[in-house]
Amino acid sequence: MQKNNKTIVNDIKTVLEFYQALGFERLPINIGRKNRGAKVQKFTASERKDSSTYKLPRYQTSEQKKAALKELREEIGDCQRCKLSKGRTNIVFGEGSEDAEIMFIGEGPGKEEDIQGRPFVGDAGQLLTKLIEKMGFKRNNVYIGNIVKCRPPFNRDPEEDEINACIVFIKKQIEIISPKVIISLGRVSAQTLIGSKIPISKLRGRFYEYCNIPLMPTFHPAYLLRNPKDKWLVWEDAQKVLEKLKKI
Ligand code: URA
Repeated sequence: MQKNNKTIVNDIKTVLEFYQALGFERLPINIGRKNRGAKVQKFTASERKDSSTYKLPRYQTSEQKKAALKELREEIGDCQRCKLSKGRTNIVFGEGSEDAEIMFIGEGPGKEEDIQGRPFVGDAGQLLTKLIEKMGFKRNNVYIGNIVKCRPPFNRDPEEDEINACIVFIKKQIEIISPKVIISLGRVSAQTLIGSKIPISKLRGRFYEYCNIPLMPTFHPAYLLRNPKDKWLVWEDAQKVLEKLKKI
């Protein structure tokens, strides 16, 4: 049976109200090919204002990407842009391949990461490394970063002002690396990149888009250390990512 225009408009309205009720500020779905992507909040001048018109390859070669990452690290310098700088030992910039197909994004360094200046090197990091290897990659084939680059005291969640001060840098890293898929680890990373307040348990397991890049939210490895029974869910999410990679 063919739907008339009024019914179609009502159906669209119902769907929009549903997403609004869930707390989405923007639609987490594809609308045609030209206007893809849930836009993220707070773009700066250097970032994509409109994901539909943004032309990706600004950094075409590995050398260009390497140089851009180095320049970004220099721009961060001995950062004092937020209060996390007071308690940190090292800035944890991120590490991995500038040509990574997958970028893993956590929330912020923990104790061990703060000491070593490297992301995900503590217990949660070991679990992440296992996941990366189980997916068929080596740790240095992917790129690993965080929403904030300095350790929040007592491993608390980063606060909004801290995220706002730092977010531009991980966004720039995403832009430089331009991975095929992003895996966000945990609530803070997913909610920040998607621009939603929905709990991670509801966000995980399906793709969103960050500036035309498919983004799969999943549980944080630290959560899995406390809830090992949920590891299979993360493995399920990882398999969806592997399937997606075959199609890109
Ligand atoms: N947890 C994170 O979110 N990031 C790290 O780098 C380490 C632990």
